[in-house]
Amino acid sequence: MVAEGEVTLDVKDLRTHFFTRRGVAKAVDGVSFRLRRGETLGLVGESGSGKTMTGLSLLRLVPQPAGRIVGGEVRLLGENLLTKSQAEMRHIRGRLISMILQDPMTSLNPVFNIGFQVAEGIHAHQGLRGKSLWDKAEEALRLVRISSPKDRLKNYPHEMSGGMRQRAVGAIVLSCQPAVVIADESTTSLDVTIQAQYLQLLRDIQRESSLSIIFITHDFGIVAQMCDRVAVMYAGRIVESGSVLDLFDHPAHPYTRALLASVPNMESRLERLPSIEGQPPALGSLPEGCRFRPRCREVDEKCQEGYPPEVEVAPEHFVSCWGVM
Ligand SMILES: Nc1ncnc2c1ncn2[C@@H]1O[C@H](COP(=O)(O)OP(=O)(O)OP(=O)(O)O)[C@@H](O)[C@H]1O
Ligand code: SF4
Ligand SMILES: [Mg+2]
Repeated sequence: MVAEGEVTLDVKDLRTHFFTRRGVAKAVDGVSFRLRRGETLGLVGESGSGKTMTGLSLLRLVPQPAGRIVGGEVRLLGENLLTKSQAEMRHIRGRLISMILQDPMTSLNPVFNIGFQVAEGIHAHQGLRGKSLWDKAEEALRLVRISSPKDRLKNYPHEMSGGMRQRAVGAIVLSCQPAVVIADESTTSLDVTIQAQYLQLLRDIQRESSLSIIFITHDFGIVAQMCDRVAVMYAGRIVESGSVLDLFDHPAHPYTRALLASVPNMESRLERLPSIEGQPPALGSLPEGCRFRPRCREVDEKCQEGYPPEVEVAPEHFVSCWGVM
């Protein structure tokens, strides 16, 4: 069972659709979950299932102009982010909720030194200037265990190793002490050892700061190692969620079971989720009823009647499948 704790983020029925000439792609289509203080939630699912768009929607950074959040609630510390103005969101992003893209080069600006980029965030969110600002920037690099932080502040991104750049991005994000960090590793090209060290660092910081983390990954091994709870996404919805222990030991949704059955072992590292038979549905023309129906080995007549409601099969373990009703 998951320990009771303060709910930091409460997402209800989030819907983000893309309006294109070829129709409406329902990238996120009724996503609900809760994240407690200090908790790490793993978000897994095949490519295109809507993980990144869920993360970007929480920050209100959905690609424009095609993408639009068409419904739902995103309550961060009690406040619904979907009703905030763009100006308010600029203040909230970074300060309360941040996203770390796992490719550090996309998050760092090559023409400014690291010190400037770390200081910029601290200045914007804490208003510090002069020596106190630079001291704080140095402290941020020390926190993510960059050696000789004072000298490193002068480095440009290309003068740092991949692992150090990753830490520098971590420093930028964490120096603002957000309540929630979304780490999206789906485009990872990072060395395995570097990544493991980085994840450990996030864990350590979390222990000291009660940061809540959403970890987007294809890697069940990382979920097992890093996360308290896991949510499995399929075609824009969460089909199963629960504590890592419970869900890995007693997967209830046929999709989760198929994924877990095809993982060779939890220790092996995977760039992609193992493939299971068939293709995910086109998000512009979803099948009637359960979206996994065309690929499901346990399909039944009632599976096409309607989308299966969410059932709590064990404490905090939720499943959307007619088979568990
Ligand atoms: N700019 C866009 N225009 C139209 N549709 C888009 C656009 N960006 C994303 N989508 C749709 O949103 C869906 C979800 O994309 P998303 O990036 O969230 O997937 P993901 O689960 O993060 O996949 P991956 O594991 O490959 O990173 C895609 O299948 C695609 O149909
Ligand atoms: S609802 Fe039916 S088709 Fe969908 S996963 Fe469950 S058994 Fe399979
Ligand atoms: Mg993605």
